[in-house]
Amino acid sequence: MKVLGIESSCDETAASVVEDGRKVLSHVVNTQIDIHAAYGGVVPEVAARSHIEVINPVVNQALREANCTWDDIDAIAVTYAPGLIGSLLIGTLAARTLATIHSKPLYPIHHVEAHVYANFVVEQSPNLSFNLPSEQPKFPMLALIVSGGHTQLVLFRDHGDYELLGQTQDDAVGEAFDKVAKITGLPYPGGPSIAKAALTGDPHKYRFPKSKLQNPYDYSFSGLKTAVLRAVQAETGHDYTFPSHELPGLLNDVQRANFAASFQQTAIETLVDKAELAFNAYSPASVVIAGGVAANQELRRMLRERLPININYAPIQLCTDNATMIATLGYYRAQALPPVDPRDLDVTPSLSMTNTAWAL
Ligand code: KG4
Ligand code: ZN
Repeated sequence: MKVLGIESSCDETAASVVEDGRKVLSHVVNTQIDIHAAYGGVVPEVAARSHIEVINPVVNQALREANCTWDDIDAIAVTYAPGLIGSLLIGTLAARTLATIHSKPLYPIHHVEAHVYANFVVEQSPNLSFNLPSEQPKFPMLALIVSGGHTQLVLFRDHGDYELLGQTQDDAVGEAFDKVAKITGLPYPGGPSIAKAALTGDPHKYRFPKSKLQNPYDYSFSGLKTAVLRAVQAETGHDYTFPSHELPGLLNDVQRANFAASFQQTAIETLVDKAELAFNAYSPASVVIAGGVAANQELRRMLRERLPININYAPIQLCTDNATMIATLGYYRAQALPPVDPRDLDVTPSLSMTNTAWAL
């Protein structure tokens, strides 16, 4: 079964064709990073406008690169939640229209759940060169989902049968990376630039607090972000009354690298501490990480060091937003649930994953 996946929930317009939920035939991602860099973050209206401009060429390219015509496509899967409303609307409208005119079944996909399914891609067509794992994860599977909008630990008992163990109570970890990059004057997007600056910094230069919450699997990153801000103020000899947008200009590259490394150390340790706790409590058969922050090499290194299990990591290109993960989850959803009527599919910008569990 060949599924065309379409993704447009934030600042990437993407389309992919995936066969049987395991073999990627094409993978096209049009990123808007350059467009938003000038503003230091994603501007929703600008994002939606860019999606409109490229959605058709991106879908056509995905079909072409997969050597497929519409006759070869068995189903369409599209992100309908969560994300920016204007961005979600473009992808879902495109998918609804294409499903209608080509008479294809349409499956609505939850973006955060789909991030986990990047780990189920284990084969590729010869024109692609991802460094894929050799086998799919086994159930029960512990998933650490770490993106710009979400941070959660989820125990998957099977496809569509999962339990949310804990989640962030405020900022997502990727958001904390992005905000700390802004505070210290590192370029957008913050995650990769913090990771890069941290390579030359001292992770023990500053001590930042780890949050303690009632549910041991919950996260909180807003206190850590504020602690970095206070430390930058102290380092530059200013207090909270000083305009924070002027702080980055007062730091040199060595200080910047030390802040990046110390922040990253605390953030990653917090993620791994709780993943280890959940691993010991639930003894899963596999562990996967998902979402943009899963690209972080220090997170991968520390998990490898602390968990007594071999983790197969998805390639970086499948960790950040893409449509391969959407098409992959689309396949498993199609095995279990009927398609939706293209005329009825609506977007749900703030739907949490707890409300989308689907039983086989
Ligand atoms: O999953 P994603 O592409 O989009 C969302 O659905 O949110 O995640 C984007 C997030 C951003 O916050 C970005 O700064 C972060 O992932 N990120 C990283 C790295 N690469 C991307 N964070 C830490 N280290 C990285 N290497
Ligand atoms: Zn994402």
